[in-house]
Amino acid sequence: MNQEHEPEATRRDASDTESSRASRGWWDSNADEYQSEHGAFLGDDRFVWGPEGLDEAEAALLGPAAELKGRRVLEIGAGAAQCSRWLAAQGALPVALDLSHRQLQHALRIAGGVSEDATALVEADAGALPFRDGSFDLACSAYGALPFVADPVRVLREVRRVLRPGGRFVFSVSHPIRWAFPDEPGPEGLSVGASYFDRTPYVEQDEDGRAVYVEHHRTLGDRVRDVVAAGFRLEDLVEPEWPGWNTQEWGGWSPLRGHLIPGTAIFVCTAEAGGR
Ligand SMILES: C[S@@+](CC[C@H](N)C(=O)[O-])C[C@H]1O[C@@H](n2cnc3c(N)ncnc32)[C@H](O)[C@@H]1O
Repeated sequence: MNQEHEPEATRRDASDTESSRASRGWWDSNADEYQSEHGAFLGDDRFVWGPEGLDEAEAALLGPAAELKGRRVLEIGAGAAQCSRWLAAQGALPVALDLSHRQLQHALRIAGGVSEDATALVEADAGALPFRDGSFDLACSAYGALPFVADPVRVLREVRRVLRPGGRFVFSVSHPIRWAFPDEPGPEGLSVGASYFDRTPYVEQDEDGRAVYVEHHRTLGDRVRDVVAAGFRLEDLVEPEWPGWNTQEWGGWSPLRGHLIPGTAIFVCTAEAGGR
């Protein structure tokens, strides 16, 4: 982090506005490091749902790849838009949206090296999507936006609004059980250190008390209720198991922990007709 003082980690409330401001600043400052650390794993045009390495090509959570051709797909919290580029390669018409200008600059950088890149990039907050009602057939998000917002129902309602009725939204987030464990890849990350039920956000703040990084926690039950409250039907909840081939750590996600507790939760949802 490019700051003179190390931010202080604490647990306190953080509003939607404060969370968005912190996320934009943090991802703008840390996009370079994120892409250089994880870019090889993410690939230039691979769609991976999380640190376990579950590929959309294998999981087909958005539907069979052969049926993606011509589908209008919105990716939320797209980062450098790796997932969108995979979708474009299947013939889909992706729009990659992110709050961070710097993350989207990485999308442009990678697109320069990918032939026939057809990904539109939009810089916006997932809580106020700049699209008309029913503009998309599908929406997706791999760890984008939802773990970082104070009001996830607002984001889910926005996604529901811009999807056509019957459209599918698939999103992955940190598995809620991780909240109870220290974010460490080794054995120290295997002992419960906090209450799973404590929703107080994790905040890193500067010396003036301004949030520079915020993560919000929802229990599994909260996430299910959020999805339903926003007008979706929950079709599936996927908890990818750590595969034997993946020996790579990603922050607190590791083979050691991944073989014992889930690291990612993927929600497969369908937009109800009429919405809420
Ligand atoms: C963990 S990264 C995931 C990026 C990408 N999906 C990937 O798998 O590499 C989270 C992304 O969500 C974006 N983000 C955070 N809050 C957001 C918001 N309110 N609206 C839109 N994007 C947001 C961040 O800028 C960041 O690029």
